[in-house]
Amino acid sequence: MFSTVTLYNCAFLCLRAAAGPLIAIENVHVWNGKGFPSTTSTVVLSGGIITNANPAGATVVNGNGGYLLPGFIDSHCHIQECSYLTPMRQYGVTTALDMGSFPYSGLVACRASGVTDVRGPGGLGTVNGTTAAGLPGYPTDGLIPNPTAGEKFVADRVAQGVDYIKLFLDVLGPTDDTIKAVTSAAHSFNKLVISHAPTNADYDQAEASDVDIPTHAPLDQPLNASQISNLVTNGRHVVPTLIMMQSIVNNTHQPFSNYVLNAEGSVTEMIKAGVPIVVGSDSNLSPYVPANPPFGISLHHELQLLVQAGLTPVQAIQGATSLAASTFRLYDRGTIAPGLRADLILLSADPTVNIANSLSIEKVWLAGVEFDPTTSS
Ligand SMILES: *[C@@H]1O[C@H](CO)[C@@H](O)[C@H](O)[C@H]1NC(C)=O
Ligand SMILES: *[C@@H]1O[C@H](CO)[C@@H](O)[C@H](O)[C@H]1NC(C)=O
Ligand SMILES: *[C@@H]1O[C@H](CO)[C@@H](O)[C@H](O)[C@H]1NC(C)=O
Repeated sequence: MFSTVTLYNCAFLCLRAAAGPLIAIENVHVWNGKGFPSTTSTVVLSGGIITNANPAGATVVNGNGGYLLPGFIDSHCHIQECSYLTPMRQYGVTTALDMGSFPYSGLVACRASGVTDVRGPGGLGTVNGTTAAGLPGYPTDGLIPNPTAGEKFVADRVAQGVDYIKLFLDVLGPTDDTIKAVTSAAHSFNKLVISHAPTNADYDQAEASDVDIPTHAPLDQPLNASQISNLVTNGRHVVPTLIMMQSIVNNTHQPFSNYVLNAEGSVTEMIKAGVPIVVGSDSNLSPYVPANPPFGISLHHELQLLVQAGLTPVQAIQGATSLAASTFRLYDRGTIAPGLRADLILLSADPTVNIANSLSIEKVWLAGVEFDPTTSS
C-alpha cells in the first residue's frame, strides 16, 4: 500500500530509514486500524521503521496472502527478568508494559535489538502491610503512608526516568488523600497513574482519586451502573486482565460465577457503556501472587476472553494495538503507517473472522528485525 508513494516527501524518515536493510513484505492484507482490505498490498520497512520509500532493491518477503497486523502491546505484565520477553516475541507481543518490577534500571537493561520493547513504572506505591509491600526486595521508598510521602514517591520515580506511575490499591492500602496527592503530582509531571483494582471498592477509590487507568476487574462484586457511568464521564481506559481474574478464581477454588458475574460481567457493562478496553494479561512468574498467566500466549487468551465479554474481534485487536498505544502515549507504534516502528505480525488466518486466528503467527518483526516463530525458539 505504500509502495506506490514517492520517496521525495520523506526527507526526515528516509534519512533514518537509510540506516538499515530495505525489506518489502508483499502480498499481504494490511491492517488499516479498523480491519483488513480485501486486496493485498506491500509494506516496506527500512532501518527499523515502516517507510514509504521505493522498495526497489529490497529483500522481498512473500506474505502469501496473509494478514499483517501491528505488533501486539501487552498493557499489563511483570518483567522481573529479561528472559521473560522471549516467549512474548514468539507470540507477536512486541511491546511489554510492565506494571511493577524493581528496580526500574533492571527493566531498562532488557532493551535490545530484536527483543520485545519494554516500559514500566519501577516499584509500585503502596503502604506497609499490603501483599505488594511484602514482596522480596520491595523498595521501601515505595511506601506512601501519607500525601507527602506520595508526592516524594512520584518525584523519586520521575527522577529514575520511569514511564508511568503504578499504585497498589487495597482496603489496607493508601488512603484517598494519599492517592490524590500521587495522581496530582504525577499529572504535574505528565505521567499517567495506573492502579491495581481487583475489587469493587478499589474502583471507587481509583475514581475518587483521579487515577487514569484502573487495571484488573472486580472479583467480589460487579460494578454498578453509576460506577460505570463515572468511568465514562471521567474518560478512564481500563485494562481488565480477564485471563488473570479467571486464573485466580480457578487457582483459589472460588465459584466460577465470581469470574462470570463480577469480572466478565463488569467488563461487558463497560463495553456497552463505551469504556475503552485495553488488552493486558498480567503475565508473571512470581511465586507470591495467586496465578501466573504465561508470557506471550496469555495475550491471545485475553483477546479471546474480551471477545467473549462483548468486544468485537476488531475492537479486541485495537485494544492490543492502536488503543493501547494511544492510552499509554506510545505514539511511535500501534498502527501500520510510514514513520512508525516496524513492529509487525504476519498471520496466516484472519483474526477479525475468528479472534483465535491471532495465534496463526507466521513471522514477527521487532523494529524491523525479523523473527520466525516457526523455526526459532
Ligand atoms: C512494616 O510493618 C512491620 C510490622 O508492623 C514493621 O516491623 C516494619 O518495620 C514496617 N516496615 C516499614 C518499612 O515501615
Ligand atoms: C453503586 O455502588 C457504589 C459503591 O458501592 C454505591 O456507593 C452506589 O450507591 C451504588 N449505586 C447504585 C445506583 O446502586
Ligand atoms: C478455569 O476453569 C474453567 C472451567 O472450570 C475453564 O473453562 C477455564 O479454561 C479455566 N481458566 C484458566 C485460565 O485456566
